[in-house]
Amino acid sequence: MRIVLVGPPGAGKGTQASFIASHLGVPKISTGDIFRANISQGTPLGVKAKEYLDAGHLVPDELTIDIVRDRLSQPDAAGGFLLDGFPRNVAQAEELDEILADNGVSPSVGKAYLDIVLDLEVDNDEVIKRISGRRLCRNDSGHIFHVDYSPSQAGDKCDVCGGELYQRSDDKEEVVRKRLEVYAAETAPIIDYYREQGVLTTIEAAGQVHVITERAIAAVDQVA
Ligand code: AP5
Ligand code: ZN
Repeated sequence: MRIVLVGPPGAGKGTQASFIASHLGVPKISTGDIFRANISQGTPLGVKAKEYLDAGHLVPDELTIDIVRDRLSQPDAAGGFLLDGFPRNVAQAEELDEILADNGVSPSVGKAYLDIVLDLEVDNDEVIKRISGRRLCRNDSGHIFHVDYSPSQAGDKCDVCGGELYQRSDDKEEVVRKRLEVYAAETAPIIDYYREQGVLTTIEAAGQVHVITERAIAAVDQVA
């Protein structure tokens, strides 16, 4: 199954991505995680991407699209994938359709190359609360905690693997506000793009993590 998760920063895309991808048996591909891994390794891509992440701006399409094209050409993505954080604007959405066409995917009746796009809907106040308390594991970007909502029982270490927990440099309040503006101006238009293709499902993403996982899995199972 080919699936995209969309939603504002802090909506819970990363948290839900791991559950949904393992339910479907497809790889989880997060452009944000790819950029952060490159930044921490100091690669040329990481050096270029860092200034955009730290400012809350989108990394330019010419850097982003090739990464996704390469990743989707790998054998493990041939049977499907879950994209978290891509596409981020209409140009990226159009490019994704082209990549899938080039990879031999046939569009469905509504001209959709994806099976489903889940739009995680949550208000800005909740987003700010979620992001300001977020802690991530240095070993695995899928190990996500929150100081109030899902604290690590091991204190400043990851419950799952013992890795060090850290706060993202773009999780400062002023950068989060910028990311929300960028989301509204540049990313929200892809919701209409996918609605017109007939693949959009909106998920109410306020509430407990496991309840939202159940809603998401029910939605993907309907199209499986
Ligand atoms: P990216 O890494 O994609 O960040 P984002 O979209 O801003 O989303 P977040 O990772 O902040 O939030 P999330 O929705 O995954 O929430 P999470 O599950 O962690 O992008 C970062 C940057 O990279 C961009 O600003 C841009 O510069 C660049 N970039 C990435 N992709 C790009 C692209 N395609 N093009 C150009 N640039 C790109 O949850 C948040 C917190 O809430 C956690 O603490 C979690 O424990 C908690 N939580 C989750 N669910 C719940 C719940 N139900 N109840 C209570 N707490 C919850
Ligand atoms: Zn961990």
